Amino acid sequence: MTYVGAAAAAPDATKLRRILTTDADTTLADFIEDTTGVQGVSHDLVVRPLQWKGIASNERNFVRSAMSFHFGMLPRELNPNYLQPQEDHDSDNDQVEDEVLEGEVSTLTIFTMSIRPPALFVPKGKEDIVSRGEKLFRGEKVDDKSIVIGLANSCASCHMPSLPLYNSLICVRDPRVDVSPGGSYGLSNITGLVARQQSSKQLPIFHKLRAALDDKNPEQLGPNRKMVPDNQHKADLDALRDAFRIAIEPVGCPSAGYQFDLNMPVSSPSEGLSFCYPRLANSKDRDGATVIHVPLFSDLKRHDMGEGLADKFDQGTDVSTIAVTRREYLTRPLWGVGDTGPWLHDGRARTLLDAILMHESLGSEANPVIETFKRLSCEDQAAIVEFLLALRLPIDCRYQPCFEKAEDCHPKQLPQPKP
Ligand code: HEC
Repeated sequence: MTYVGAAAAAPDATKLRRILTTDADTTLADFIEDTTGVQGVSHDLVVRPLQWKGIASNERNFVRSAMSFHFGMLPRELNPNYLQPQEDHDSDNDQVEDEVLEGEVSTLTIFTMSIRPPALFVPKGKEDIVSRGEKLFRGEKVDDKSIVIGLANSCASCHMPSLPLYNSLICVRDPRVDVSPGGSYGLSNITGLVARQQSSKQLPIFHKLRAALDDKNPEQLGPNRKMVPDNQHKADLDALRDAFRIAIEPVGCPSAGYQFDLNMPVSSPSEGLSFCYPRLANSKDRDGATVIHVPLFSDLKRHDMGEGLADKFDQGTDVSTIAVTRREYLTRPLWGVGDTGPWLHDGRARTLLDAILMHESLGSEANPVIETFKRLSCEDQAAIVEFLLALRLPIDCRYQPCFEKAEDCHPKQLPQPKP
């Protein structure tokens, strides 16, 4: 954040504090944002955790584009001029108007959210090799024979074992209802594969938080600005961080949407949908806040994977002005990876070992990690593969009468992060 306003009007500590702690957004016009140092997410700072290239920012956008792309069924909400008098009800010209209705997209979206989380299934007799593989994956020391990888050079540097989720309530928006700017999310009802959803960057809290955080590097505040945060300012920052946490994950839905609890409590094992399995467990973070560690094995960032894995073209995201370049891919979440071969974005890898080795090519960010992987003994490489093979989707107990014993049926929770 750089101050570009008139030198005479440059904010002093008191004024800046007022900007940060009130909604005085107008004053922020005097600042410009510099996102050139942002890595792995687009310059609007929206994390797009879905699809191979990381192009969809929410599940609904993912589901409706998949309906159109994979099934050739165009959801109504993607119609050109949606909800306008001139709406084109059959823009894919297949003689079926409004092929998938909004409610159907909502239902499908909620269904995909409800699928049981993958878990760690260790085959009997493979406990040692799987645990060795997990340690190597994380870059931890296993014994004196194997080389010590270290976190920065490990698979876990991209495939982060877990990310924290502070609120399991998700809102699935109903695009038919106009939520005026200033509503809980300030969503607009304009939709499309390119969802012109107001970026969270627009939320006042974002401006305030970013200004506040940048203030920790006073030289970035612009010409001749030097500010040492005082105690009061530090308290403001803490308050902002809390506000930020709540702002990005509000409890309850905006008026137009459906609320779904990813960690819906289950009273009976046979209840509804796929809830015969435990959802993810709650735990506490360092500040004592309730958190769910989601063991997805991804940092949800995009990385340059080099010429070897590059696509032919850049790919657009759900915001029309933002694209993902040919060589960039989202770090693939690896939970359940044991069941999802063939691997990599186009299924070119027939084995997990191939998938790993194919990370290496001209310009790939993963090159140093793969070089280290290749220096491991064959046994250690195999241990990593065994660990990955143990990351599986649980068997659905309802269809497996032989697995009635709870311990056969219910997998172990995936490894929890070490605080
Ligand atoms: C620089 C970040 C990065 C590092 C380091 C990295 N990966 Fe990946 N990984 C990715 C990305 C991005 C993809 C998706 C690439 C694609 O599909 O073209 C991926 C894909 C995979 C896949 C295929 C998943 C699927 O569903 O098809 C496996 C398996 C995998 N990684 C394992 C590993 C292992 C094991 C290591 C360590 C030896 C490792 N990765 C290191 C970023 C990384």
